[in-house]
Formats: sequence, structure tokens, C-alpha cells
Amino acid sequence: MSTTFQLDTATSRANPTPAPMKRLTVPAIQRRKFEGKTEQPLVMLTAYTARQAQLLDQHCDMLLVGDSLGQVIYGLPSTLQVTLDMMIAHGAAVVRGSYHSVVIVDMPFGSYEASPQQAFESASRIMAETGCAAVKLEGGQAMAETIAFLSQRGIPVMAHVGLTPQAVNALGGYGARGRSQEEHAKIIADGQAVADAGAFAVVVEGVLEPIAVALTRSVEIPVIGIGASAQCDGQVLVTDDMLGMFERVPRFVKKYGDIAGVISETAARYAEEVRSRTFPGVEQTYQPKKK
Ligand code: KIV
Repeated sequence: MSTTFQLDTATSRANPTPAPMKRLTVPAIQRRKFEGKTEQPLVMLTAYTARQAQLLDQHCDMLLVGDSLGQVIYGLPSTLQVTLDMMIAHGAAVVRGSYHSVVIVDMPFGSYEASPQQAFESASRIMAETGCAAVKLEGGQAMAETIAFLSQRGIPVMAHVGLTPQAVNALGGYGARGRSQEEHAKIIADGQAVADAGAFAVVVEGVLEPIAVALTRSVEIPVIGIGASAQCDGQVLVTDDMLGMFERVPRFVKKYGDIAGVISETAARYAEEVRSRTFPGVEQTYQPKKK
């Protein structure tokens, strides 16, 4: 599958992706952690559309087509309603819009938990139909067998431990994890289990900082933090959160922009010009050719 746009007509908004360069690979990401250290932290952001991918690609090492798209794009109450078809459609768009980053697509709830075979069927569809380089799935020790099954069959897996949003009903909410000794120990054991099973990296989300630091030190694979610690091997955020698209964001999000404000002010100016009949102006209208 081509990673650059084929379509380049004067009327298309699908800008061709600029000068294709060699895309990063999963082994290259893994090599960034050497002898337990990552000199240059890995940068990951979520992307859901081709245009978003084009804009983020050059700044990132990895683009995650997260199932957070359920809430961010579709206005769903949680990630539980996200389907394989949704992930595949957005995954393919992000691969088309990028040429540099490793693209990882989330496996949605219900598409992998039943058995390693079910996970292989879903993951192989995602890989074949999107052209992505890897999949991500939630779960630690309970998913180790599945991670090993996929990894041994050519499917690189990024794991996700700590606060795992697909388990929101079992966890009882989106609060930080690891406040008890038991939970602390379980998160570390989960991270070690997925590393031993062959995951190429692991996301640790919403945990007390000492847990994130301890996990980062205890496994060979890159640990990507979200609501975790700057000492992790890399960081990920939901792009729309950090752009300032939403008023309410989790405490661990830093808003780097105010995209909601820009959209609202711009729409207000447009509405005002439509109502005052100052848009469209001469530059935006077609006139008969002068004879
Ligand atoms: O779905 C998602 O966007 C994620 C990240 C928050 C890690 O899993």
C-alpha cells in the first residue's frame, strides 16, 4: 500500500504527502532504548485523519490511531463502542497522510480478548487493510499469551498497562492507578509480563510517578508514558487534548494551544460576514469573462 497520496488534482484538498522519506521502523524505535537508557525520548501523538497525520508526522516518531477516536471524533461516551471497521478506516487515512512516523493502530474492545486466534484475525485485518506497522492492545499478564502469539507471527505489538480505558467498568472510573501496594505491584508485573511476551513497547497510563519510573527502569523495551512521568522513555498525548480542542481534559494533559477558541472565533467571523452579506466578496465569486 502506498503511503503517499495518489490524488493530486487542482480541486482536491488531499495534498500529496511531501517528499517521501524512509519511514521509521519498529526495530528502530526499539533501538532507541539502549542498555536501559533512551537518550532522546520518543514522541508519540494520536492521529485520526490524513490531514492531522500530515501535520503531526514530521514532529513525531510514532502516530497512534487511538480508540480514543470514539470520544474525540464520534462523541461516544467511552472507547467501548468503537469497532474494528472504524479503526481500519481511520488507520488507513493516517497511513496515507504520513511518511515518517511508525503508525500504530489500537485494537478495539472485543476484537482481541477472547483468544490469541481472535486477536490474530483482527490484527491481521488491521495490518493488511491499513498498512500500519503495529497494533496496540490493552492488558498486562492476562494478554501475555496473545502478545506472544501475535509477535511470533510478524505482528508487532505495543501493550498498554496501568489505567486501561477499555476496562473502565471494571476499574470503576478513570482515576490514577497504583495507590495500593497490591496495585503498584500488579502494574509492574503487567509491564514485565508484556515485555517478556515480546511487546516492542508499552504505554503506561495514569499511574503514580514512582511506578512509571520503576517500570521504565525494569524493562528493556521503551515505556511510553501518559499521565505517568517525564522519566519514561517517551510520551504520548491525545492530540486534540493538547491542542486545546476540549474544555475538560484529564489533569495530566498540558494544553499547548487553544484550537477550540480559534475555531469558535473563526466561525463567528464567518457567520457575521454571511449575515452582513460581505461574504462572498469579489475574490470568492466567479464573474462572466469580459468580451
Ligand atoms: O486511545 C488512545 O488514544 C490511547 C492513548 C491515550 C495512549 O490509548
